[in-house]
Amino acid sequence: MTILIEQPDLNVPQLEVKKVLDSENNEEMCELVLDGGFVMPKDIADNDGCVKPEVLESNDEFIAPDINAFGQTFRDYNAESERQKSVEEFYRLNHIHQTYDFVKRMREEYRKMDRVEMSIWECCELLNEVVDESDPDLDEPQIEHLLQTAEAIRKDYPNEDWLHLTALIHDLGKVLLLPSFGGLPQWAVVGDTHPLGCAFDESIVHHKYFEGNPDHHNPSYNTKHGIYSEGCGLENVMISWGHDDYMYLVAKENGTTLPEAGLFVIRYHSFYPLHKSGAYKHLMNKEDKENLKWLNIFNKYDLYSKSKVRVDVEKVKPYYLSLIDKYFPAKLRW
Ligand SMILES: [Fe+2]
Ligand SMILES: [Fe+2]
Repeated sequence: MTILIEQPDLNVPQLEVKKVLDSENNEEMCELVLDGGFVMPKDIADNDGCVKPEVLESNDEFIAPDINAFGQTFRDYNAESERQKSVEEFYRLNHIHQTYDFVKRMREEYRKMDRVEMSIWECCELLNEVVDESDPDLDEPQIEHLLQTAEAIRKDYPNEDWLHLTALIHDLGKVLLLPSFGGLPQWAVVGDTHPLGCAFDESIVHHKYFEGNPDHHNPSYNTKHGIYSEGCGLENVMISWGHDDYMYLVAKENGTTLPEAGLFVIRYHSFYPLHKSGAYKHLMNKEDKENLKWLNIFNKYDLYSKSKVRVDVEKVKPYYLSLIDKYFPAKLRW
C-alpha cells in the first residue's frame, strides 16, 4: 500500500516528484505524483519526474501515458490494436483511480472557480490547444467539432437556441487538461462516466478493472443502490470526475440562464452506461427522465466522424456570440 505524505497542491500546474512511504517496508521511495495527487505508474516515470524516453519511443511495449500530453507526441495509432490497447489502459487507470473520495475532492476544489477569468468564446478558442486522446478524430481542431455539432442541431431544431449553445459549450471542460487548469491526466477528464457510491454496472466499458478500485470492495458502495435510494435524482448522485461535471459547475456557478435540460446535457453527455445501456435508471427522478429525452437527441449529433462538413468559423461566430450574450455573463470564472 502506498501512502502519500504530502497533500497535493491543486494550484501547481505541473508534475512533481513527491516522497511516498511504502507502508510494508517503511522505505521512502520517489514516485511521480501528478498534480491533483495521482501517483503515476513507475514504469513510465523517471526519478526526475520526467516520462522515460524509452516510453516515448518504444512502439511494441507502448502504453499511452495517462498524463496530459501537451508538447509530447505519444500517439501511434496506425494499428487499430495499438489504439485499443491504449484505450484499455486509459480505462484501467480511470476505473482504479476514480473513487467516491477522489470525485468529492475534485468537485470541492474545482467549484472554487479561482483559476482563470474568460468568456465562453475565449474558452472555445483555448480548447483548440487541447488534445483528447480518446477522440478518434485527433486531427480535427476541437472548435470544429463544437461548431459542427452545434450547426447540425441548429439545422434540425432551429427554434431551440439553448440547445445550439449547449452543443457549442458541451466539451469546454476539456480545458482541465491544460496546465493553467491543473493539468489533469486524461483519465480524470475524458472518456465515459459512471456513478460512484453504488455498484459499478456490468455495462461499463472494461468493467474488470474496477477490481483495483477500493470502492468496489466497500460494502457501503458496492450494492445496487449503495448510498442512494430509488428515484433519488441524478443531481444527488456522485458521477466520475471529468469535463462534463466541470463544465456543468462552471455554467452553474457563473449563473447561466440555460434551461435545466441544457445543463443536464452538459453534465451527463459522457454517461454512456445510462443513455446507451439504460443502466442506473432506478436513480433517476421525473425531471431526469424528461431531460434524458434531450440528451438522446443531442447524442445523435455528438459523433465525431459523422459530419465532415467544414464550418466557416467567422461566418457563424456572430450568431453564437449572441447566444453566449443571452445565456452567460461576459466574463466567467473558471
Ligand atoms: Fe464530451
Ligand atoms: Fe463532444
